[in-house]
Amino acid sequence: MFITFEGIEGCGKTTQIKRLENGLRRKNIPLMRTLEPGGTTIGHTIRRILLDSNHKNLSPLAELILYEADRAQHVEEVIKPALDKGQWVLCDRFCDATVAYQGFARGMDMVLIRTLNDAVTRGIRPDLTFLLDCPVEIGLERARTRNRDHAQKGQDRFEQERLAFHRVVRRGYLELASKEDKRFVIIDAALTEDRVEEEIFRVLTPYLVNNHYDI
Ligand SMILES: Nc1ncnc2c1ncn2[C@@H]1O[C@H](COP(=O)(O)OP(=O)(O)O)[C@@H](O)[C@H]1O
Ligand SMILES: [Mg+2]
Repeated sequence: MFITFEGIEGCGKTTQIKRLENGLRRKNIPLMRTLEPGGTTIGHTIRRILLDSNHKNLSPLAELILYEADRAQHVEEVIKPALDKGQWVLCDRFCDATVAYQGFARGMDMVLIRTLNDAVTRGIRPDLTFLLDCPVEIGLERARTRNRDHAQKGQDRFEQERLAFHRVVRRGYLELASKEDKRFVIIDAALTEDRVEEEIFRVLTPYLVNNHYDI
């Protein structure tokens, strides 16, 4: 099983992917949790370039190609080997993020994005994608609080974007989800952390049964 988490900044992806990881580990499901950008050593270096708020002049094309480079390395080094071994892979952002951010919000050519995504993923697609959807005001406020509480180095390049940018990202994700409604599950991320976790588990229950895991 390959499960991805998507949504705007601060919607709760990292919180929920960790909760799901814990829940699945309790059922002895072999799994790995990873993220983009930065799921490999090389990717970690790429992530620093992408999120550095000093890089205000990073061109949209360079940005797109850096994300795809990160993904190429990640699929090759981490995701494909784990899936081949039969592990469940939980990934915090994947191809849909590039369509939402670089495609919808930055206006990069969608055909180019799809071509690059297809090339770097080598046919690997998520079985299930949770879109944690909430108003951008809620997400950005959560991200601000998180960064303050955890003494992170301030807002990253994306958190500094204007509200309008994040609204386009959100709309982009919702459009993707409506086009691929078999793969996507939209979760109301404005609910409490516990409620969101319950929703995610409810959706996963049939998959656990199909894979002969206890529920
Ligand atoms: N459902 C929720 N309700 C309230 N706060 C939340 C919820 N989910 C996450 N948070 C908090 O919001 C902040 C951002 O969550 P995070 O999981 O880091 O979001 P993301 O990874 O999508 O950017 C964190 O401080 C987290 O504790
Ligand atoms: Mg996160």
